[in-house]
Amino acid sequence: MKGIFIVLEGIDGCGKSTQIKHLSKWLPNSGLMPEGKKLFITREPGGTKLGESLRQLLLNVCKDEAPKNLTELLLYAADRAQHVSQKILPIINNGDWIISDRYSSSTMAYQGFGRRINKLLIKQLEDIATQGVKADINLLLDISVSESIHRRHNTTEDRIESEGQVFLERVAKGFKTIAKEKDWTIIPANQQKEIVSKQIELSIIKSLSKMEKK
Ligand code: TYD
Repeated sequence: MKGIFIVLEGIDGCGKSTQIKHLSKWLPNSGLMPEGKKLFITREPGGTKLGESLRQLLLNVCKDEAPKNLTELLLYAADRAQHVSQKILPIINNGDWIISDRYSSSTMAYQGFGRRINKLLIKQLEDIATQGVKADINLLLDISVSESIHRRHNTTEDRIESEGQVFLERVAKGFKTIAKEKDWTIIPANQQKEIVSKQIELSIIKSLSKMEKK
């Protein structure tokens, strides 16, 4: 039996990393995973060794060396292609479970809605890079743009985070549009982290039981 692939999405500062840390402890002890199967945690960009190098090129380059929009799109796609074939597919084919901090919808939200690159092109590239591999469960952690900016005011911004409020508004709208279209669970994430964790747990339990019935 194939493993389960879970993805957390959302704008910068929505708390994905904190919640994934929680899930990495909770899920293996929840009784939901089959006996003997492992849980892996990963992220995009940077889920593989090659991806780590691509992440540096995408996020931590000086302004003169910054990738143009199309280059940026292709680098995220390259990271994803490597991630899917080297890590995600082998893990789920082995029946193990994997949680990813971001996946292909981040490209639709940031490069499609944020940078306004042609969405059909992005969709075509997504099909190529993912080989059709889709997450079994997608969760959107929803915070407002002002909350995102507030939460990050003491941190050093990477290249994408420094795009500013108007860009982030488009990305946030993009995530909500995608979530509605694809019928994802939207978790209001502007609450105590323990409450957010509980809602995520319940949502995963519900999604898994729906999948069992199919
Ligand atoms: P992330 O790892 O969530 O940032 P952090 O380490 O600060 O938590 O994501 C890195 C950045 O890359 C984030 O600003 C969103 C951006 N991104 C895209 O623009 N397109 C994509 O396809 C992906 C996966 C990420």
